[in-house]
Amino acid sequence: MRPQLHSRASAFGKVILFGEHSVVYGYPALAAGIADGVVLHAQPTEHGRPLELSIPDWDVDFELRPESEDPLSLALHAIMSHCDGPLTGWRITGQTKIPARAGCGSSAALSVALAKLALGEDAPPAQIVEASMAGERVFHGNPSGLDSEIATRGGMLRYTRSDGVAPLRFAPFTVVVANTNKPRSTAHQVANVRTRKTRFPLVVDPVLQALGQLVTSAERAIVTNDFKSLGELMEVSHELLSGLGVCCEELDRLVALANRSGALGAKLTGAGGGGCIIALPGDGAGPLLKAFETAQVEAFEVRVEA
Ligand code: PMV
Repeated sequence: MRPQLHSRASAFGKVILFGEHSVVYGYPALAAGIADGVVLHAQPTEHGRPLELSIPDWDVDFELRPESEDPLSLALHAIMSHCDGPLTGWRITGQTKIPARAGCGSSAALSVALAKLALGEDAPPAQIVEASMAGERVFHGNPSGLDSEIATRGGMLRYTRSDGVAPLRFAPFTVVVANTNKPRSTAHQVANVRTRKTRFPLVVDPVLQALGQLVTSAERAIVTNDFKSLGELMEVSHELLSGLGVCCEELDRLVALANRSGALGAKLTGAGGGGCIIALPGDGAGPLLKAFETAQVEAFEVRVEA
């Protein structure tokens, strides 16, 4: 029998609340899932026709060709091969709620949803994460694994490379995501941080350590509903990430706009260099969303819950 796909699979997008970049070096990170970040449907086509992938929201539409060097094709091939899934005879179409390549976990959500199409939604999470990492390694080289874990499990997770995931108990709250619409590459930003760390280890290592410590302080603020402290820690996180060289004018401008418009704090989220910020609303998300709309900035709410 030829390899089969399940007819539907979904995966979470994500926001990293704290710990991007430092997580690569073994420190903890906190991330929250965005439900139905990517939803995929699969239908059989003619026997022998190349595997097709179409996600109009991300301008993705291609047939899998063995000679293609495009990262999406390579990732699709890597995931299907890992799962003993089909390389021909299926058409996969997708819808998404998250912007592509903007720090909201688009590549991990796609990798996880593809792995679930091949393995089934009910496959053990660790198996789905492992299969998706075959794709994430194509996109990012040496991913920490945080994005794949949150794209698979959702909720809010504390993650370290050595110990994996631990859930957190807390009362739900909201963050607002705003997009600079400036494209960037995670692999590039991660490589730049590594270069800076290699050149100035005595300067950069304490910054990474402080970003790790922020996670512990933020966890305490979250479980005690201390949002004033949480906002302040987001400010510190943004400044420390700036020291790693992953901020840019566009991100700083959105952080400043959020702070002027009633946010308790704001920071870049994900790899930086462009992409998105997250802001913690002071008094409901309304004023922040309005301010971003007035400034013609794409923004949306994410409910952070266990
Ligand atoms: O920008 P994103 O969604 O690809 O997030 C990258 C997070 C990093 O910590 C910078 C890299 C990683 O592998 O964890």
